[in-house]
Amino acid sequence: MTGSETFRPGLEGVVAAQTALSSVDGAAGRLVIAGYEVGELAPKATFEETVFLLWNGRRPDTSELATLREELAAARELPIAAVNSPSPIDGLRMSLCLLAPTGDDREDAFRVVGLLPVLAASAYRRSRNLPSIAPHKDLGHVANYLYMLDGETPHPERVRAVETYFNVAVDHGLNASTFVARCIASTESDMVSSLVGALGALKGPLHGGAPGPALEMVFEIGSPDRAEAEIRARLQRGERLMGFGHRIYKVRDPRADVLKDAAERMFAHTGDCSLYDLAMAVEGTALRLLEEYKPGRNLRTNVEFYTALVLQGAGIPVEMFTPTFALARAVGWSAHVMEQRKTNRIFRPASIYVGQNGLKWERHPV
Ligand code: ACO
Repeated sequence: MTGSETFRPGLEGVVAAQTALSSVDGAAGRLVIAGYEVGELAPKATFEETVFLLWNGRRPDTSELATLREELAAARELPIAAVNSPSPIDGLRMSLCLLAPTGDDREDAFRVVGLLPVLAASAYRRSRNLPSIAPHKDLGHVANYLYMLDGETPHPERVRAVETYFNVAVDHGLNASTFVARCIASTESDMVSSLVGALGALKGPLHGGAPGPALEMVFEIGSPDRAEAEIRARLQRGERLMGFGHRIYKVRDPRADVLKDAAERMFAHTGDCSLYDLAMAVEGTALRLLEEYKPGRNLRTNVEFYTALVLQGAGIPVEMFTPTFALARAVGWSAHVMEQRKTNRIFRPASIYVGQNGLKWERHPV
């Protein structure tokens, strides 16, 4: 390509896939997951129901749901050693790399989705020199994950909050990590490789790595009366406020409201709303100052701000925020890989050459 074609940095606005998995309307602030508005699905469905929905395009009946629960629980069997790393997200990625693909996408999707919480919890505990906790076969997918982190059978309110988060995070159009998964699948590579690549893409602070820093910002601010000065100083230094802004949403991210409700319930259940109240004050100030410093950019609260709050309220350690995101999104990634297979054409975008021409190769004297 020579340069007369249009270059779209970040592929903004380029349609690169058709999908029936989720629809993101950034102008209206709507997210539809396999036909259901996110606010309809996320607070009501169990995560197993959402898994079935994404993999099959419809809700399961009672016996299909029971079978899926059993199959996911069976997939918690650890066929590989969890790898030690001081960073649980790296430990998770390194462990997943050890899983051999079977060549059957559905079987691999079950194995990865069933196993990821085991690997993540194990990576977390090993990073703290704690022994791994064996999975509990009678607990659901989300409850069992919480159980493997600290060995406590989780309270139903805690499970509901995290399950709502899992449902919210399960799929979101052609985001960077999902695009990576589809890209790898488009070469006819296997499911496991596609998900390992997606996990690497998710980790970055502009994608799934944002909620930890978003929470750190809230903690650093510490009290509502310090919000104005702290946020102003960050924006004056040219820093980005983590948990704000989105490529697609120019109005409020609909996932933020679902998680805000979940966080409010969670904190009310614990009886201490001080962090929730502080976060509300930080959000209000951040939105006002973003409009002042970046007028017209329509920077709004994104899902990661409230993710941080829900996961913190549910007692998930901050270094587990991104791994927890991966456990939910792996269902979307695997569904996208299977969807890509149906009408596959290898992704091979063009590039525009902006280098030099006609250089001569002069031999160096020997
Ligand atoms: N804080 C301050 N300024 C911001 C922010 C922010 N959070 N986000 C964007 N801006 C500014 C940019 O500096 C830029 O300003 P300019 O016009 O003066 O150059 C303008 O808004 C447009 O920003 P872009 O980088 O072009 O927006 P893009 O669509 O490429 O980026 C992104 C979207 C990466 C999410 C960005 O808003 C950001 O970095 N946010 C903070 C990180 C974050 O929260 N990531 C999680 C996203 S949600 C998810 O992945 C699940």
